[in-house]
Amino acid sequence: MRRLLLSLAGLLVTGVVFGQKFEQLARTPPMGWNSWNHFGCNINEQIVREVAEAMVRSGMRDAGYEYVIIDDCWQGERDSLGFIQPDPERFPSGMKALADYIHSLGLKFGIYSDAGDRTCAGRPGSRGHEYQDALTYARWGVDYLKYDWCHTENLNPIGAYTTMRDALYAAGRPIVFSICEWGTNEPWKWGRTIGHLWRTTGDITNCWDCVIDHGTWKSWGILQILDRQDGLRIYAGPGHWNDPDMLEVGNGMRVSEDRAHFSMWAMLAAPLIAGNDVRHMSETTRAILTNREVIAVDQDTLGIQGFPYRREAGVEIWFRPLAGGDWAMAILNRTETPRTVTFNFRETYIFDDFSRRGTFFDRITYRLRDLWAHRDIGTTETPLTVEVPGHDVVMLRLIAPKP
Ligand code: GLA
Repeated sequence: MRRLLLSLAGLLVTGVVFGQKFEQLARTPPMGWNSWNHFGCNINEQIVREVAEAMVRSGMRDAGYEYVIIDDCWQGERDSLGFIQPDPERFPSGMKALADYIHSLGLKFGIYSDAGDRTCAGRPGSRGHEYQDALTYARWGVDYLKYDWCHTENLNPIGAYTTMRDALYAAGRPIVFSICEWGTNEPWKWGRTIGHLWRTTGDITNCWDCVIDHGTWKSWGILQILDRQDGLRIYAGPGHWNDPDMLEVGNGMRVSEDRAHFSMWAMLAAPLIAGNDVRHMSETTRAILTNREVIAVDQDTLGIQGFPYRREAGVEIWFRPLAGGDWAMAILNRTETPRTVTFNFRETYIFDDFSRRGTFFDRITYRLRDLWAHRDIGTTETPLTVEVPGHDVVMLRLIAPKP
């Protein structure tokens, strides 16, 4: 009996040491920048350094953007012992030096790999090298790993992602683990104990409402991705987030579309990973990405995702419960035509079954803060009437009286 108890205790201890993700990371959705959406494979250490500097200069770092993440195509060959090397032409100074530089700017360093034997762009993947790669990343000073799902024939996703989770944990350096298997195997159902975020869809592309068919796969516009988040909010919370993919802000859509995209991602408690060339962005793009009032919604400490309250003829009204009894509200116009929307708070009662939080518009007067105009626009005592331009959003914070 004693022996049994001892071995049970042993199992428990081993379980604690090896079988887990790093807790306490990503308590709010991760924020940062990733090379893929703008640069694709065309990436090198010079660009990454300049981007990191621009993140400091532009105020992005101070607004909360933290991780500088190199996506696919940084990899060179494995050495004779199987250790991965960076591409010597693109990253001649090596990854440790790059990580040190990024850290010296007060930022964190992220990298990309794949559960298969090759990445999506055909570089070496981690299959069969998981513990070795995790050790290498830890030695380089990596803080974030995006782990993709190309070339994974005959692999079980839960098994493959668990192996990398355990490898990262064994390597001993706290690393945010980003599961990128495009929602194919419903990662929201199993990802919580394995990673800190999981992609819910295929790749995003910089258009409002399009689907681009690449033959074997498709990429999706903003509304297409938004519509694929239905039903997933119950799976997200501090330390484990739905990831509707990285931002396309500043990559060519209209300003109103960028603003709406950014707002809806904040309503979704989505990771905010910029994907533009932040070295050369316009002031308008910079202002969208660094809107602290919208970022505060995204980063709200309760970590409860928003939900559509009403969907009518191309106009959607979303709510999101926030800490301290506040609510975020977004009125999204999916159509080209400007729309006038009236909302009578006094006659509305909203109750969120999932978070068990409700509005009390009949008893409490909330102050209305317009998060894009940066001004107060009244209270919930009187009905609100706003005009929402085509492909745009009005985003508000309903501020509860504080005791
Ligand atoms: C997949 C991912 C993208 C990007 C590319 C890189 O398509 O979903 O986000 O990482 O691979 O090849």
